[in-house]
Amino acid sequence: MKKLNIGLLGYGTVGKAVATLLQEQENMNLHGIFRRSGKADESIMTDLVDDLLLNPQIDVIVEAMGGLIPAYDYIKKAILNGKHVVTANKALINAYGEELNQLALTQNVSLMFSAACGGGIPFLPTMISHTTPIRKVGGILNGTTNFIIDKMEREHLSFSDALKQAQSSGYAEADPSNDLNGIDTMYKLRLALAIGMHTWIDLESIDVEGIAHLKDIDIKYFTQQKYKCRLMAYGEKTVKGFIACVEPSLVELSSLEARTIENNNLTWFENKDLQRFELSGQGAGGLPTASNVLRDLNSMIEKTSYTLPSVMNEDQADNQLDHQNYLIRTPIDLNSPFLEKYTGQSRVFSGVLYRTLYEVPVNEMHKEVLRLREKNEVFFART
Ligand SMILES: NC(=O)c1ccc[n+]([C@@H]2O[C@H](COP(=O)([O-])OP(=O)(O)OC[C@H]3O[C@@H](n4cnc5c(N)ncnc54)[C@H](OP(=O)(O)O)[C@@H]3O)[C@@H](O)[C@H]2O)c1
Repeated sequence: MKKLNIGLLGYGTVGKAVATLLQEQENMNLHGIFRRSGKADESIMTDLVDDLLLNPQIDVIVEAMGGLIPAYDYIKKAILNGKHVVTANKALINAYGEELNQLALTQNVSLMFSAACGGGIPFLPTMISHTTPIRKVGGILNGTTNFIIDKMEREHLSFSDALKQAQSSGYAEADPSNDLNGIDTMYKLRLALAIGMHTWIDLESIDVEGIAHLKDIDIKYFTQQKYKCRLMAYGEKTVKGFIACVEPSLVELSSLEARTIENNNLTWFENKDLQRFELSGQGAGGLPTASNVLRDLNSMIEKTSYTLPSVMNEDQADNQLDHQNYLIRTPIDLNSPFLEKYTGQSRVFSGVLYRTLYEVPVNEMHKEVLRLREKNEVFFART
């Protein structure tokens, strides 16, 4: 049988791990690696991307560079030259997934991105092979923030020390803002909704709160109340419309979420028969992520590869449809008619006020917190 010939773009954390795993594959061959000028110092490497993109011997391009440009240009060129593409790039698929998928369909090649959501967890492939319509998706989709919160909870590290440890362990990037403010989780949620429900949800309509405003005092209070905090994504297709948001959430100590520690992820989906499926594992890191790239490559060999369907829907999230309970930390003297309207109980802890709010429309909660933050330090979590 002919081996699958692979061209690899990028040789960082994911690219190196892909190259390592490919050495063990009998049915695949790493044909070439594209690196920046001056870094292509092995015979298998080139600094001319067209050596791979235009090479008739190459069947698949694996993009592991990250960023939008030039990754987008390279992927487009690869597809136009009849090559399948596998990418781990969630930002790129969020920005150009629809266009590139349409192009792939017209060129009769596959565009696959299992590693872009869930790192090493086969979250997207499991949803693709699920035959009953999916109604809900979500979970802990960001390893960096989970690592930080876990270190604060179990080892009592401060937020800044936990972040430094995440960076020195290679989990957080030098600029961790996309992880901390929930954008990375939002990208993954949007891909899960695209795969699970064949709908691109307008990014602007997804309410997103990360852990950038989480403080050491919050973890102390949650611990005293016997809760753990997790950054969670929630997506749902209801009869009235879509719900999609990212929020810190308080979970019971015995829950699967609470037991998701270090940089692990927990992904789940629910079908229309209310059957729930949960997958947990390494959400990031070179080898776990590369294993999802290999899964995509294998499915090409087995000809079970997928792309998104040719007709994708587009919709907005309407988070007014979803009402949740929240815990919010504010200064003691903060006055807000909105908070007063929904507050059930409040408690002073170490000089700050924690209020429990009941049945708050999700979009209104996010909007009010943005307004309050113009002048106040505020953090909130779903309960
Ligand atoms: N790391 C993870 O755990 C993980 C998990 C899931 C998905 N992903 C996704 O995987 C992709 C790669 O992430 P990574 O962590 O492997 O990043 P990385 O360690 O920064 O590696 C990126 C590689 O691409 C190369 N590169 C970037 N721009 C280039 C350009 N214009 N021309 C040539 N080479 C270029 C870099 O070269 P230089 O070293 O010369 O800059 C580096 O070798 C991203 O889309 C990321 O979102 C990563």
